[in-house]
Amino acid sequence: MPVVVLISGSGSNLQALLDAQLAGELPIKITAVISNRADAYGLERARRAGVPTQVLSHKEFSSRECYDRALADLIERSEPRLVVLAGFMRILSAEFVERYQGRLINIHPSLLPAFRGLDTHRRALETGATEHGCSVHFVTPELDAGPVIVQARVPVLPDDDPQTLAARVLAREHRAYPLAVRWIAEGRVVLRGDQVFRDGRAQTRPPLLLEDDRIE
Ligand code: GRF
Repeated sequence: MPVVVLISGSGSNLQALLDAQLAGELPIKITAVISNRADAYGLERARRAGVPTQVLSHKEFSSRECYDRALADLIERSEPRLVVLAGFMRILSAEFVERYQGRLINIHPSLLPAFRGLDTHRRALETGATEHGCSVHFVTPELDAGPVIVQARVPVLPDDDPQTLAARVLAREHRAYPLAVRWIAEGRVVLRGDQVFRDGRAQTRPPLLLEDDRIE
C-alpha cells in the first residue's frame, strides 16, 4: 500500500514507521516524505532510508487553501492510499481534509477528546491528570476531533515535567502509530461515515494498546 508521510520536525514517528516497514511488519511502501520545513530532521531520516523527500514551504503561498492545493498535487504524484500526518504542524483546510477523508490519519499526544490542540503535556500536568497518552485518529475538518483508531495510555508520575511526560508518551506513539497503519493497510480498519470499523464491527470505544503491546 503506497503511503505518503507529512512531517515538520524530528520525524521520530516517521522513523517508527520506516523501522516497522524495514522489519517486514508493515505491508506498506512509504513512497514520499513531504515537509513544510527544509530543516526538518525527519527529511534526513527519510533520505537515509532511501525514501524520496520533498519540501513545500508554506511561506511561498498566499493562503492556506493555495498551499493545501499544491500539497495535494505533490501527494498525488505517489497516488497514495493513505496520507500519514507525523508531526505535521499545520492546520489543514476543509477542502484538503474532505478530499482525503478516510485516507488521512494523525497522531495526537493526548487521550482524545482530552487536550485537543497544542501543549498537551503541560496542560495534562496542570489539570492534575493521573493518566495521559496518545491517540491515532482519522482526520476530519475539526482539529483533533476525528474518530479515534487506537490509543495508548501512560501513567503521570509525581515528579513529571512536560519533557519527561512527553518522552513517555512518545515511546508509546512509536508503537501505536505503526499498529494503526498496519490495521488500515490490512483492510482491518476503515472509516465509514464518522465511525471507525475494525474487523467489520463499529468501534464503540477506541481500543487501548497496553504496555506489553496487548490490545484491550
Ligand atoms: C508527536 O508528539 C506527535 O504526537 C505530534 O507531533 C509530535 C511529532 O514528533 N503530532 P515526531 O516528529 O514524530 O518526533
